[in-house]
Amino acid sequence: MTKTYKIALLPGDGIGEEVCEQAVKVLNKCEKLFGFSLQFTHGLIGGAAWSKHKNHFPKETQDLAKNSDAILFGSVGGPVEAQFEQQWNNCEKNSILAIRKFLNLSINLRPAPIFSQLTDFCPLKKEIIGNEDFEILVIRELSQGIYFGEHSRPSPNEATDTSQYDRKTIKKVAQFAFKTAQSRNKKLSSVDKANVLETSRLWREVFEEEAKNYPKVNFESIYIDNMVTQLVKNPKQFDVIACPNLFGDIISDLTSVLPGSLGMLGSASFGDSVHLYEPSGGSAPDIAGKDIANPIAQILSASMMLRFSFKEHSAADAIDQAIRNVIKIGYRTGDIFSGKAGEQKVSCSEMGDVITENIG
Ligand code: IPM
Ligand code: MG
Repeated sequence: MTKTYKIALLPGDGIGEEVCEQAVKVLNKCEKLFGFSLQFTHGLIGGAAWSKHKNHFPKETQDLAKNSDAILFGSVGGPVEAQFEQQWNNCEKNSILAIRKFLNLSINLRPAPIFSQLTDFCPLKKEIIGNEDFEILVIRELSQGIYFGEHSRPSPNEATDTSQYDRKTIKKVAQFAFKTAQSRNKKLSSVDKANVLETSRLWREVFEEEAKNYPKVNFESIYIDNMVTQLVKNPKQFDVIACPNLFGDIISDLTSVLPGSLGMLGSASFGDSVHLYEPSGGSAPDIAGKDIANPIAQILSASMMLRFSFKEHSAADAIDQAIRNVIKIGYRTGDIFSGKAGEQKVSCSEMGDVITENIG
Protein backbone atom coordinates (compact mmCIF):
# COMPACT_ATOMS: atom_id res chain seq x y z
CA MET A 1 0.00 0.00 0.00
CA THR A 2 1.20 3.51 -0.78
CA LYS A 3 2.33 5.42 2.28
CA THR A 4 0.32 8.60 2.78
CA TYR A 5 1.63 11.58 4.74
CA LYS A 6 -0.63 14.36 5.99
CA ILE A 7 0.92 17.79 5.65
CA ALA A 8 -0.43 21.01 7.14
CA LEU A 9 0.47 23.67 4.60
CA LEU A 10 0.71 27.05 6.36
CA PRO A 11 2.05 29.60 3.85
CA GLY A 12 1.36 32.60 6.13
CA ASP A 13 2.07 36.06 4.78
CA GLY A 14 4.09 37.91 2.14
CA ILE A 15 5.99 35.62 -0.19
CA GLY A 16 4.83 32.56 1.81
CA GLU A 17 2.08 31.59 -0.60
CA GLU A 18 4.15 31.81 -3.80
CA VAL A 19 7.21 29.98 -2.46
CA CYS A 20 5.05 27.26 -0.88
CA GLU A 21 3.45 26.72 -4.26
CA GLN A 22 6.89 25.89 -5.69
CA ALA A 23 7.65 23.47 -2.86
CA VAL A 24 4.34 21.69 -3.47
CA LYS A 25 5.19 21.40 -7.19
CA VAL A 26 8.50 19.74 -6.31
CA LEU A 27 6.88 17.47 -3.72
CA ASN A 28 4.19 16.41 -6.20
CA LYS A 29 6.92 15.27 -8.59
CA CYS A 30 8.53 13.26 -5.77
CA GLU A 31 5.23 11.52 -5.01
CA LYS A 32 5.11 10.22 -8.55
CA LEU A 33 8.74 9.17 -8.67
CA PHE A 34 9.24 7.74 -5.22
CA GLY A 35 5.89 6.07 -4.61
CA PHE A 36 4.38 7.88 -1.64
CA SER A 37 1.38 10.09 -1.39
CA LEU A 38 1.10 13.53 0.18
CA GLN A 39 -2.13 14.97 1.48
CA PHE A 40 -1.93 18.75 1.85
CA THR A 41 -4.38 20.72 3.99
CA HIS A 42 -4.10 24.48 3.72
CA GLY A 43 -4.31 26.50 6.95
CA LEU A 44 -4.10 30.15 7.99
CA ILE A 45 -1.52 31.65 10.31
CA GLY A 46 -0.07 35.12 10.98
CA GLY A 47 -1.58 38.19 9.38
CA ALA A 48 -3.46 35.99 6.91
CA ALA A 49 -5.25 34.31 9.82
CA TRP A 50 -5.92 37.66 11.47
CA SER A 51 -7.81 38.89 8.39
CA LYS A 52 -10.30 36.06 8.71
CA HIS A 53 -10.34 35.13 12.43
CA LYS A 54 -8.96 38.19 14.26
CA ASN A 55 -6.39 35.77 15.68
CA HIS A 56 -2.83 35.05 14.50
CA PHE A 57 -2.98 31.34 15.37
CA PRO A 58 -6.66 30.32 15.43
CA LYS A 59 -8.04 27.12 16.93
CA GLU A 60 -8.68 25.63 13.46
CA THR A 61 -4.99 25.97 12.62
CA GLN A 62 -4.00 24.55 16.01
CA ASP A 63 -6.14 21.48 15.37
CA LEU A 64 -4.79 21.10 11.86
CA ALA A 65 -1.19 21.37 13.12
CA LYS A 66 -1.73 18.83 15.89
CA ASN A 67 -3.36 16.30 13.59
CA SER A 68 -0.79 16.42 10.80
CA ASP A 69 2.29 14.30 10.21
CA ALA A 70 4.34 17.44 9.49
CA ILE A 71 3.96 21.17 8.91
CA LEU A 72 5.28 23.01 5.91
CA PHE A 73 5.38 26.63 7.00
CA GLY A 74 5.97 29.72 4.84
CA SER A 75 6.61 32.91 6.79
CA VAL A 76 4.67 35.41 8.84
CA GLY A 77 4.71 39.14 9.44
CA GLY A 78 3.83 42.37 7.69
CA PRO A 79 5.61 45.50 6.48
CA VAL A 80 7.75 47.23 9.12
CA GLU A 81 5.85 50.49 8.66
CA ALA A 82 2.56 48.70 9.47
CA GLN A 83 3.77 46.87 12.58
CA PHE A 84 1.47 48.75 14.92
CA GLU A 85 -1.67 47.98 12.95
CA GLN A 86 -3.69 45.28 14.68
CA GLN A 87 -3.17 42.73 11.94
CA TRP A 88 0.62 42.91 12.29
CA ASN A 89 1.12 43.97 15.89
CA ASN A 90 2.83 41.06 17.71
CA CYS A 91 2.13 38.91 14.67
CA GLU A 92 5.41 36.90 14.89
CA LYS A 93 5.09 36.47 18.64
CA ASN A 94 1.49 35.27 18.40
CA SER A 95 2.04 32.94 15.48
CA ILE A 96 5.55 31.54 15.07
CA LEU A 97 6.51 31.71 18.76
CA ALA A 98 3.06 30.38 19.68
CA ILE A 99 3.29 27.39 17.35
CA ARG A 100 6.81 26.61 18.65
CA LYS A 101 5.39 26.49 22.16
CA PHE A 102 2.23 24.64 21.08
CA LEU A 103 4.20 21.81 19.46
CA ASN A 104 7.09 22.02 21.93
CA LEU A 105 9.56 22.53 19.07
CA SER A 106 12.82 22.32 20.96
CA ILE A 107 15.43 21.40 18.36
CA ASN A 108 15.89 23.75 15.44
CA LEU A 109 18.21 22.95 12.53
CA ARG A 110 19.44 25.83 10.42
CA PRO A 111 21.88 24.66 7.78
CA ALA A 112 23.80 27.31 5.86
CA PRO A 113 24.84 25.67 2.60
CA ILE A 114 27.66 27.48 0.83
CA PHE A 115 27.59 26.88 -2.92
CA SER A 116 30.89 27.64 -4.64
CA GLN A 117 28.98 29.22 -7.56
CA LEU A 118 27.40 31.81 -5.26
CA THR A 119 30.35 32.95 -3.16
CA ASP A 120 30.38 36.31 -4.99
CA PHE A 121 27.32 37.11 -2.89
CA CYS A 122 29.06 36.25 0.38
CA PRO A 123 30.24 39.43 2.11
CA LEU A 124 33.42 37.75 3.35
CA LYS A 125 36.64 37.93 1.35
CA LYS A 126 37.29 35.18 -1.21
CA GLU A 127 40.36 34.01 0.79
CA ILE A 128 38.11 33.39 3.77
CA ILE A 129 35.06 31.80 2.18
CA GLY A 130 37.13 29.88 -0.39
CA ASN A 131 35.77 28.29 -3.54
CA GLU A 132 34.45 24.96 -2.39
CA ASP A 133 31.00 23.87 -1.30
CA PHE A 134 30.57 23.43 2.44
CA GLU A 135 27.85 23.69 5.03
CA ILE A 136 27.62 24.97 8.57
CA LEU A 137 24.77 23.54 10.59
CA VAL A 138 23.39 25.60 13.45
CA ILE A 139 21.35 23.65 15.96
CA ARG A 140 19.32 26.05 18.04
CA GLU A 141 17.34 25.19 21.17
CA LEU A 142 13.93 26.65 20.45
CA SER A 143 11.58 26.15 23.39
CA GLN A 144 13.23 27.70 26.46
CA GLY A 145 15.63 30.42 27.53
CA ILE A 146 14.89 34.11 27.60
CA TYR A 147 12.30 33.84 24.82
CA PHE A 148 9.91 31.90 27.01
CA GLY A 149 10.71 33.12 30.51
CA GLU A 150 8.62 35.74 32.27
CA HIS A 151 8.58 39.16 30.67
CA SER A 152 7.44 42.08 32.76
CA ARG A 153 7.29 45.84 32.76
CA PRO A 154 6.51 46.77 36.36
CA SER A 155 6.91 50.46 35.62
CA PRO A 156 7.69 52.61 32.58
CA ASN A 157 11.33 52.74 33.70
CA GLU A 158 11.93 49.08 34.51
CA ALA A 159 11.72 45.88 32.51
CA THR A 160 12.61 42.26 33.22
CA ASP A 161 13.07 39.17 31.05
CA THR A 162 13.92 35.92 32.74
CA SER A 163 15.78 33.00 31.24
CA GLN A 164 15.25 29.44 32.33
CA TYR A 165 16.65 26.10 31.15
CA ASP A 166 16.16 22.57 32.38
CA ARG A 167 18.64 19.71 32.14
CA LYS A 168 16.27 17.43 30.24
CA THR A 169 15.81 19.88 27.36
CA ILE A 170 19.52 20.69 27.11
CA LYS A 171 20.34 16.97 27.16
CA LYS A 172 17.93 16.35 24.29
CA VAL A 173 19.64 19.05 22.21
CA ALA A 174 23.10 17.85 23.22
CA GLN A 175 22.39 14.24 22.27
CA PHE A 176 20.99 15.33 18.93
CA ALA A 177 23.96 17.62 18.30
CA PHE A 178 26.56 14.96 19.13
CA LYS A 179 24.80 12.33 17.01
CA THR A 180 24.62 14.77 14.11
CA ALA A 181 28.26 15.77 14.48
CA GLN A 182 29.27 12.11 14.62
CA SER A 183 27.46 11.46 11.32
CA ARG A 184 29.14 14.48 9.64
CA ASN A 185 32.64 15.88 10.12
CA LYS A 186 32.93 14.96 13.80
CA LYS A 187 33.26 18.55 14.93
CA LEU A 188 30.86 20.16 17.42
CA SER A 189 31.03 23.65 18.91
CA SER A 190 28.66 24.55 21.72
CA VAL A 191 27.99 28.24 22.34
CA ASP A 192 27.35 29.77 25.75
CA LYS A 193 28.22 32.62 28.11
CA ALA A 194 29.22 30.41 31.03
CA ASN A 195 31.54 33.07 32.46
CA VAL A 196 28.43 35.07 33.37
CA LEU A 197 25.13 33.23 33.03
CA GLU A 198 23.87 30.44 35.26
CA THR A 199 21.77 28.94 32.45
CA SER A 200 24.95 28.82 30.37
CA ARG A 201 26.78 26.97 33.18
CA LEU A 202 24.09 24.33 33.13
CA TRP A 203 24.21 24.23 29.33
CA ARG A 204 28.00 23.70 29.37
CA GLU A 205 27.81 21.09 32.14
CA VAL A 206 25.30 19.00 30.19
CA PHE A 207 27.24 19.25 26.92
CA GLU A 208 30.50 18.31 28.63
CA GLU A 209 28.86 15.27 30.23
CA GLU A 210 27.42 14.19 26.90
CA ALA A 211 30.83 14.63 25.22
CA LYS A 212 32.10 11.63 27.20
CA ASN A 213 29.76 9.39 25.18
CA TYR A 214 31.17 10.65 21.88
CA PRO A 215 34.95 10.38 22.12
CA LYS A 216 35.31 10.54 18.33
CA VAL A 217 33.67 13.96 18.15
CA ASN A 218 36.03 16.90 18.41
CA PHE A 219 34.06 18.97 20.90
CA GLU A 220 34.55 22.50 22.17
CA SER A 221 32.58 24.95 24.28
CA ILE A 222 32.96 28.50 23.12
CA TYR A 223 31.73 31.84 24.46
CA ILE A 224 29.22 33.68 22.28
CA ASP A 225 31.38 36.79 21.94
CA ASN A 226 34.35 34.76 20.77
CA MET A 227 32.09 32.74 18.49
CA VAL A 228 30.92 35.73 16.45
CA THR A 229 34.53 36.82 15.95
CA GLN A 230 35.66 33.37 14.89
CA LEU A 231 32.72 32.93 12.52
CA VAL A 232 33.64 36.06 10.61
CA LYS A 233 37.39 35.42 10.67
CA ASN A 234 37.32 31.75 9.73
CA PRO A 235 33.88 30.17 9.34
CA LYS A 236 35.31 26.99 7.86
CA GLN A 237 36.70 25.91 11.21
CA PHE A 238 33.08 25.10 12.20
CA ASP A 239 30.76 22.32 11.13
CA VAL A 240 27.98 21.79 13.71
CA ILE A 241 27.24 24.61 16.14
CA ALA A 242 24.82 24.11 19.05
CA CYS A 243 23.27 27.13 20.77
CA PRO A 244 20.72 28.08 23.38
CA ASN A 245 17.69 29.92 22.02
CA LEU A 246 18.77 33.58 21.92
CA PHE A 247 22.37 32.89 20.89
CA GLY A 248 21.06 30.55 18.19
CA ASP A 249 18.83 33.31 16.86
CA ILE A 250 21.84 35.59 16.49
CA ILE A 251 24.38 33.04 15.30
CA SER A 252 22.01 31.67 12.67
CA ASP A 253 21.54 35.18 11.27
CA LEU A 254 25.30 35.49 11.05
CA THR A 255 25.72 32.15 9.26
CA SER A 256 22.76 32.98 7.03
CA VAL A 257 24.75 35.61 5.15
CA LEU A 258 27.44 33.12 4.13
CA PRO A 259 25.39 31.44 1.36
CA GLY A 260 24.86 34.89 -0.12
CA SER A 261 21.08 35.09 0.22
CA LEU A 262 18.52 34.33 2.89
CA GLY A 263 16.59 32.70 0.08
CA MET A 264 18.93 29.70 0.29
CA LEU A 265 18.22 28.68 3.88
CA GLY A 266 15.70 26.07 4.89
CA SER A 267 15.12 24.91 8.45
CA ALA A 268 13.58 22.12 10.49
CA SER A 269 12.15 22.29 14.01
CA PHE A 270 11.53 19.10 15.94
CA GLY A 271 8.75 18.75 18.48
CA ASP A 272 7.46 15.86 20.55
CA SER A 273 5.56 14.39 17.62
CA VAL A 274 4.89 16.90 14.84
CA HIS A 275 7.83 18.69 13.23
CA LEU A 276 7.77 22.02 11.40
CA TYR A 277 9.74 23.06 8.31
CA GLU A 278 10.19 26.68 7.28
CA PRO A 279 12.58 28.93 5.38
CA SER A 280 14.85 31.01 7.60
CA GLY A 281 14.01 34.27 5.86
CA GLY A 282 11.06 36.50 6.57
CA SER A 283 7.85 37.19 4.68
CA ALA A 284 9.52 39.89 2.51
CA PRO A 285 6.31 41.91 1.97
CA ASP A 286 8.16 44.31 -0.36
CA ILE A 287 8.56 41.64 -3.03
CA ALA A 288 5.43 39.59 -2.30
CA GLY A 289 3.09 38.78 -5.19
CA LYS A 290 5.69 39.72 -7.82
CA ASP A 291 6.88 36.20 -8.58
CA ILE A 292 10.50 37.17 -7.96
CA ALA A 293 11.22 35.58 -4.55
CA ASN A 294 13.76 32.78 -4.30
CA PRO A 295 11.83 29.56 -3.54
CA ILE A 296 14.95 27.48 -2.80
CA ALA A 297 14.73 28.00 0.99
CA GLN A 298 11.17 26.68 0.97
CA ILE A 299 12.10 23.77 -1.29
CA LEU A 300 15.06 22.88 0.95
CA SER A 301 12.66 22.95 3.91
CA ALA A 302 10.40 20.54 2.02
CA SER A 303 13.36 18.25 1.42
CA MET A 304 14.17 18.31 5.14
CA MET A 305 10.55 17.36 5.82
CA LEU A 306 10.84 14.30 3.58
CA ARG A 307 14.13 13.36 5.23
CA PHE A 308 13.36 13.90 8.90
CA SER A 309 9.61 13.39 9.25
CA PHE A 310 9.00 10.74 6.62
CA LYS A 311 12.44 9.10 6.23
CA GLU A 312 12.09 9.42 2.45
CA HIS A 313 15.83 9.89 2.06
CA SER A 314 16.03 9.12 -1.67
CA ALA A 315 13.44 11.76 -2.48
CA ALA A 316 15.15 14.29 -0.20
CA ASP A 317 18.53 13.54 -1.82
CA ALA A 318 16.94 13.98 -5.25
CA ILE A 319 15.62 17.44 -4.33
CA ASP A 320 18.96 18.55 -2.89
CA GLN A 321 20.74 17.29 -6.00
CA ALA A 322 18.25 19.05 -8.29
CA ILE A 323 18.96 22.33 -6.48
CA ARG A 324 22.70 21.83 -6.90
CA ASN A 325 22.13 21.07 -10.59
CA VAL A 326 20.07 24.17 -11.38
CA ILE A 327 22.62 26.36 -9.63
CA LYS A 328 25.41 24.74 -11.56
CA ILE A 329 23.52 25.14 -14.85
CA GLY A 330 23.15 28.84 -14.04
CA TYR A 331 19.50 29.44 -13.13
CA ARG A 332 19.23 32.40 -10.76
CA THR A 333 16.44 34.31 -9.10
CA GLY A 334 17.16 38.04 -8.72
CA ASP A 335 18.76 37.74 -5.26
CA ILE A 336 21.51 35.42 -6.58
CA PHE A 337 21.84 36.84 -10.10
CA SER A 338 25.15 38.56 -10.79
CA GLY A 339 24.79 38.99 -14.55
CA LYS A 340 27.82 36.84 -15.34
CA ALA A 341 27.92 34.89 -18.60
CA GLY A 342 26.12 31.59 -18.28
CA GLU A 343 23.58 32.82 -15.77
CA GLN A 344 19.90 32.90 -16.58
CA LYS A 345 17.57 35.03 -14.53
CA VAL A 346 14.33 33.27 -13.64
CA SER A 347 11.18 34.05 -11.70
CA CYS A 348 10.08 32.30 -8.55
CA SER A 349 7.74 29.97 -10.44
CA GLU A 350 10.32 29.28 -13.16
CA MET A 351 12.84 28.31 -10.48
CA GLY A 352 10.19 25.93 -9.09
CA ASP A 353 9.74 24.49 -12.59
CA VAL A 354 13.43 23.93 -13.34
CA ILE A 355 14.04 22.29 -9.97
CA THR A 356 11.02 20.04 -10.56
CA GLU A 357 12.31 19.11 -14.01
CA ASN A 358 15.73 18.29 -12.57
CA ILE A 359 14.39 15.70 -10.16
CA GLY A 360 14.84 12.07 -11.08
C1 IPM B 1 13.75 33.50 13.87
C2 IPM B 1 13.06 34.84 14.06
C3 IPM B 1 12.15 34.75 15.27
C4 IPM B 1 13.01 34.42 16.47
C5 IPM B 1 11.31 36.02 15.50
C6 IPM B 1 10.46 36.34 14.29
C7 IPM B 1 10.47 35.94 16.73
O1 IPM B 1 14.01 35.85 14.18
O2 IPM B 1 13.04 32.50 13.67
O3 IPM B 1 14.96 33.48 13.92
O4 IPM B 1 13.61 35.33 17.05
O5 IPM B 1 13.09 33.27 16.85
MG1 MG C 1 16.01 35.21 13.93
